[in-house]
Amino acid sequence: MKLQPITPFLGIEVHDADLRKPVADDDFATLREALNQHSVLLFRDQTLSEAEHVAFSRRFGPLLTHVLAQFLKPGFPEIYVLSNVVDGGKPIGNHKEGWNWHSDLSYKAEPCLGSLLYAIETPPEGADTLFASMYAAFDALDDDTRDFIRPLRGVHSYSSYYGKAFADRTPLSSEQKAAVPDITHPLVRTHPETGRLSLYVGEDVVSGIEGMEGPEGQVLLARLNAHAVDSRFVYRHVWQPGDLLIWDNRSTMHRATPYDDVKYRRVMHRTTVAGDRPF
Ligand code: SIN
Repeated sequence: MKLQPITPFLGIEVHDADLRKPVADDDFATLREALNQHSVLLFRDQTLSEAEHVAFSRRFGPLLTHVLAQFLKPGFPEIYVLSNVVDGGKPIGNHKEGWNWHSDLSYKAEPCLGSLLYAIETPPEGADTLFASMYAAFDALDDDTRDFIRPLRGVHSYSSYYGKAFADRTPLSSEQKAAVPDITHPLVRTHPETGRLSLYVGEDVVSGIEGMEGPEGQVLLARLNAHAVDSRFVYRHVWQPGDLLIWDNRSTMHRATPYDDVKYRRVMHRTTVAGDRPF
């Protein structure tokens, strides 16, 4: 394996790795460390079956299943399908998922450690994914802001996210809502493996700041969200079929971008690795 930085602030491309084969323990330790430090790993030209994608993902830890069960890959509940394709009148995956800045499953008490997104079919233009380094965003805050936000907690709400992102869809059922109650997390989280601090916000999923219910909470949140995704901290990934991208949800935010979904098909498979409670 050869590791090559993608940008100075985020991302490593891993060359000469065939993820269909088991990765040796020492190579895997190198990958884990690269993910901790650089937040995103890219492997191009992979040809993974669903079982191989799941098996490699499991090396990072236990996998989670998404609350929107209708978009799980039949036979592989660990794989959440993101797609605009409709087969026999039924969408094969969730369309327009993550078209806003977020960290996956941040609305859970124990959000996921990381996600592994595998590109099966990609449009020739559009549908890039943007990644922002929350390490870099935190480091670039002025001292006063850092001190002020250190004790604060954001309210992460899947209902709020779903209502904004999917306003044209059937509302969440009461069972789905009950599965994802609102939760608070620190605005500044400590990476459990590197000890580095990062900003922990989100565009639609963070509905407010605990104890700052008035407009000042919304103003601060908007300011932090805008700062977090400043172009200084952002990498744009242009997908090719066969790309596998892994990101550390403890030190990044990401968002998908639009494409011509009438003209083109997009099929992506995502697994998510269980994480722990942010502190
Ligand atoms: C996501 O996992 O949030 C979606 C990313 C993408 O579809 O590019």
